[in-house]
Amino acid sequence: MNQPIVLPARESLTSTFQRWWDTQGEWVEEPNQRRAGESGVQRVRLRDASQPLLYSKRQIGHLYRSLAHPFGRPTVLRELQALQAFARLGVRVPELVYCGTRQQAGQWQALLVTAELDGFVSLENWYRDGHTERHGTLVHQRMLAAVGVALNRIHRARWQHGCCYPKHIFLRVHGAGDAAWVEVALLDLEKSRRRLRRSAAARHDLRQLHRHRQDMPVEDWLRLLAAHTTASEADAHVI
Ligand SMILES: Nc1ncnc2c1ncn2[C@@H]1O[C@H](COP(=O)(O)OP(=O)(O)O)[C@@H](O)[C@H]1O
Ligand SMILES: [Mg+2]
Repeated sequence: MNQPIVLPARESLTSTFQRWWDTQGEWVEEPNQRRAGESGVQRVRLRDASQPLLYSKRQIGHLYRSLAHPFGRPTVLRELQALQAFARLGVRVPELVYCGTRQQAGQWQALLVTAELDGFVSLENWYRDGHTERHGTLVHQRMLAAVGVALNRIHRARWQHGCCYPKHIFLRVHGAGDAAWVEVALLDLEKSRRRLRRSAAARHDLRQLHRHRQDMPVEDWLRLLAAHTTASEADAHVI
């Protein structure tokens, strides 16, 4: 969080959580019933037009259970942990604006607000909207390699994304021609967790991405996979 976005105080008794809870926009993902609770995402434009567009994940009773939290804990807290861990590993993630939880009448409410990944397009839309043709073969190949390397970076740290679909891999092209490079950001980390072995994390995510690769031609998939493998081997020499 670089410069925290502070909502204007309406009255001193209104909690920060309540003010963010009241800050709403149009649904990007309508609330759906999962994990005996509900979760949805809204796109929020603050009145201050100089602020970035925000994405607000709103959840009610949406919990995960683990050995450390047998009675359940809001999934946004797991996502928050993963956002911070991925950023520390040098993998771009949406910038955190606000995260908070509270219990209302015995039910959890939770919020995770992030700034829009400006100038990025999802891997799903990359294929759908013809970015390969727009940027050319070289940039396209660099994009595939960058995705393989970014995934390898979290896997090397034994992190598993857990929801590794093309719609959760975001891409931004910087520069042009020979100097062009592609930045990769990962989002929707609410299922992300650490595994005991890097191979288990990698196997899970790569199988998942392969299953959901949709329009990706097989040669593209192999290129992405090769970059993932090469990054692993490069790492093995360092250790
Ligand atoms: N910070 C962000 N920048 C750009 N797009 C975002 C951002 N956060 C969420 N989105 C968009 O909203 C969609 C839903 O968010 P996501 O975190 O996947 O929530 P859910 O758990 O409901 O799937 C994403 O697939 C993405 O298209
Ligand atoms: Mg999602």
